[in-house]
Amino acid sequence: MIPQETIEQIRQATDIVDLISGFIRLRKRGRNYLALCPFHTERTASFSVSPDKQIFHCFGCGKGGNVFSFLMEHERMSFVEAVKELAQRANIIIREEKGSDFKRDLIERISYANQVAVEYFQKTLKLDKFKIVLEDYLKGKRNITSESIETFRLGLAGDEWEGLLRHAKRKDISEDEMVRAGLAIYNEEKKSRYDRFRQRLMIPIYNLSGKPIAFGGRTLKKDEPAKYINSPETPLYRKGYILYGLSESKDQIRKSNFAYVVEGYFDLISLWQAGIKNVVASSGTAFTLQQARLLGRFAEEVYLFFDSDSAGEKAALKSVDVLYDAGLEVKIISYPKGEDPDSLASKYGSDKIEELRKEALGFIPFRLKNIYVTKSGIIDREKLVKEFQLIGNKIGDTTRRTLFFDEAADEMGLNQAIFQTQIQPPRTGTDAAGNSQTQQKFNPVESGLLSLLFHSPGSIDEVFEKISSDDFDSKALGRLYSAMIDQYRVAGNIEARALIDAAGDEKLKQLIARIAALEWPADQIESETAAHARLIIENKKVAVRNRLQLQLSQAEAKGDREKADTILDELKGYGIDYK
Ligand code: UTP
Ligand code: MN
Repeated sequence: MIPQETIEQIRQATDIVDLISGFIRLRKRGRNYLALCPFHTERTASFSVSPDKQIFHCFGCGKGGNVFSFLMEHERMSFVEAVKELAQRANIIIREEKGSDFKRDLIERISYANQVAVEYFQKTLKLDKFKIVLEDYLKGKRNITSESIETFRLGLAGDEWEGLLRHAKRKDISEDEMVRAGLAIYNEEKKSRYDRFRQRLMIPIYNLSGKPIAFGGRTLKKDEPAKYINSPETPLYRKGYILYGLSESKDQIRKSNFAYVVEGYFDLISLWQAGIKNVVASSGTAFTLQQARLLGRFAEEVYLFFDSDSAGEKAALKSVDVLYDAGLEVKIISYPKGEDPDSLASKYGSDKIEELRKEALGFIPFRLKNIYVTKSGIIDREKLVKEFQLIGNKIGDTTRRTLFFDEAADEMGLNQAIFQTQIQPPRTGTDAAGNSQTQQKFNPVESGLLSLLFHSPGSIDEVFEKISSDDFDSKALGRLYSAMIDQYRVAGNIEARALIDAAGDEKLKQLIARIAALEWPADQIESETAAHARLIIENKKVAVRNRLQLQLSQAEAKGDREKADTILDELKGYGIDYK
């Protein structure tokens, strides 16, 4: 229980511009500051911070509030945590009223559990009986310094089944809370809980504020099939929103305006030890749009630095579209076979890596170089055209997309038109007999996208992430889209049969059948899905802009200055600035 006047005092002591610019890049615009909104996907800045009013507000998604709400929303803190965090920054000591030791909020409990776990694992690593792990393995074989062990707060999960659980109990964390925190597992049959991590080197994963929210655990056994196991998602830890290392490296990344992206925790630590501190780790999976945008808040350029030919490299190359989409320039670092970022950093140090970075190729030349070494036939070139088409079609910004295709055409010695054949609306599918379907009544882009979703499991997550049912012009299609999302969430796939069963009225059943019957050439599905999705987003934007412009002229005609100003502010989010 923090006294009200202390909360007030903390609020007074915190400047919202200072606070928020620690997380995102703010640009001064008049009296206020503008940025890309960290809470929803957008391409033009509509997130505004007012130093006078000490508030933030997004004209796009409507999120807004004060310094506390920003931390709660952005860092997923509870109110009490946000207050404590800001108290610490402002050097204000909180004298809590009675009964405050018990932390009520679940997120806060999970955060506390992770904190306790970090300390427990750190202590375990220093136990005499595990000296061999610390000295021989970590410091000896892996070349990790004591300093890094402290900086990254590395630890060890011992060999007990309930070691951490018992320790947590002594710290007043219940077994159930440990399960909720992802640190323990519930055994249905035995009705008991046990530690998730055993006999593993523990790497804490932090949020941007430097709070531990999850763990990666590396096995110490030779023949263990799962080299790493990681915390599951919890209300505090959302994988797709976190980049390992960013809490430590963000200031360096901001300063240099670029970031190295490596695959593994140990690659990152190795680079760090060589003095390269503007680095994050992708944890071996493709970037989500949120992760790309997160990075985009601190830098304009990324250098992908991966184990070559690894699964991680493939994942990295898959990330290229979201990185471009987030407005980042993408370069790829190549190096001699037999090395990896970890070995390069420890053997040759930062100068060598800087040298390699300066020779890094852009994505398109990199792909071409790789392909042309071995293959150059028509079919290979066609594959490459399709690959570039697919990536380019996902880039939402028109200028950026055109430049991307320009470069691809240039580098391949082709006409740009070859890339554009796929992206012109309106497009319709063909039915099973190969006849073009005319879809009167419905916008062909919207019905087209729905029909494509039946065939494109690979793109479904991304489409759902970017497009909501409100973005559809047609109410009926929007409803069908919602039903598809629901089904996908529950069943993990989208099936016309099940949707038809679930549909209430006959008309909807027929609509589903008609859309599901549309067929697409298999090799165009991904590219078409990307293009359709993009067109829907663009159409929606145009529609909102038109509506706002109409409202603006009405407000101006009525002489309603205040309303006109609000609309103008909102229009700025669509790249229009009349002032
Ligand atoms: P690596 O296998 O390259 O791991 O996977 P690493 O960190 O370089 O580890 P060492 O050097 O072999 O000990 C890269 C990243 O992919 C994720 C981890 O985040 C890892 O750091 N990964 C890998 C998993 O999550 N699970 C796995 O089974 C393997
Ligand atoms: Mn690796």
